[in-house]
Amino acid sequence: RKIAVLMGGLSSEREVSLSTGRGCAHALREEGFDVTEIDAGPDLVDDLRAAAPDVVFNALHGPGGEDGVVQGLMDWLGYRYTHSGVLASALAIDKSRTKDIYRQHGLPVAESRLVPKADVQKAHPMPAPYVVKPNDEGSSVGIYIVPEGASSPPILAETMPDIVMVEAYAPGRELTCTVLGDEALGVTEILTDGWYDYEAKYEEGGSRHVLPADLPAEITELVRDMALRAHHMLGCRSISRTDFRWDESRGRDGLIVLETNTQPGMTPTSLTPEQAAHAGLSFGALCRRLVEDAWR
Ligand code: DAL
Ligand code: MG
Repeated sequence: RKIAVLMGGLSSEREVSLSTGRGCAHALREEGFDVTEIDAGPDLVDDLRAAAPDVVFNALHGPGGEDGVVQGLMDWLGYRYTHSGVLASALAIDKSRTKDIYRQHGLPVAESRLVPKADVQKAHPMPAPYVVKPNDEGSSVGIYIVPEGASSPPILAETMPDIVMVEAYAPGRELTCTVLGDEALGVTEILTDGWYDYEAKYEEGGSRHVLPADLPAEITELVRDMALRAHHMLGCRSISRTDFRWDESRGRDGLIVLETNTQPGMTPTSLTPEQAAHAGLSFGALCRRLVEDAWR
């Protein structure tokens, strides 16, 4: 079968996507597929026509590639593609709407709202500690943590959107769980010296991953159950990864859901490939599985 791997693109996660895409393309070749790598730009339609793939492997991250836009184009052109479709992608990239859906289905979330950027600059939008983030970015791009006792609100970069999300800071341990098909994989705890930011995510040794996370069995099961429910309530297809925070001093009540990623990173430092490996699926087998899910 012929596979076109879409990567790169124009979002702020371009470099992450190139890393994900090259790794997946390499693995798919090793699995015996005929693979074309496409850096998704303005000529995407021409590039796809030239490649004439049986399946498009979507390795894009962020706006354009993870928000329903490229998915809609694939639907229009009639290509089968990996990962989620239009609606789940559009919902999951929108952190605020995702949380509305979590709330409707009873998943616990941190209090948050959308606020004009100009208002945030004027006065604290909620009592510190809180977090300011773009509503639609991944990889911790553009996240501001405002610590307890901060005298003034943060000065936001020019590149931040006009409307931003402000969210009560949820203390606790950083946990994540990938869903593959109808199954939640293991739970990973991420340990960092500071915040799990862009550098900690992608630099070798930037963070330590504990898999399976050393948690009470009841919390592990709760995380897996919530990850699976989030996957279904958003209508995700094939794969997703949901991120959590757990304040252990509050037991079961200390667990909150942060977000669901429909295009989980597959870079050398990413979490999803480790969780797949732990479940007995090599990187190549994981990539093959995503292609087979798209083919079905
Ligand atoms: N946004 C990055 C790629 C992730 O969720 O893994
Ligand atoms: Mg994300």
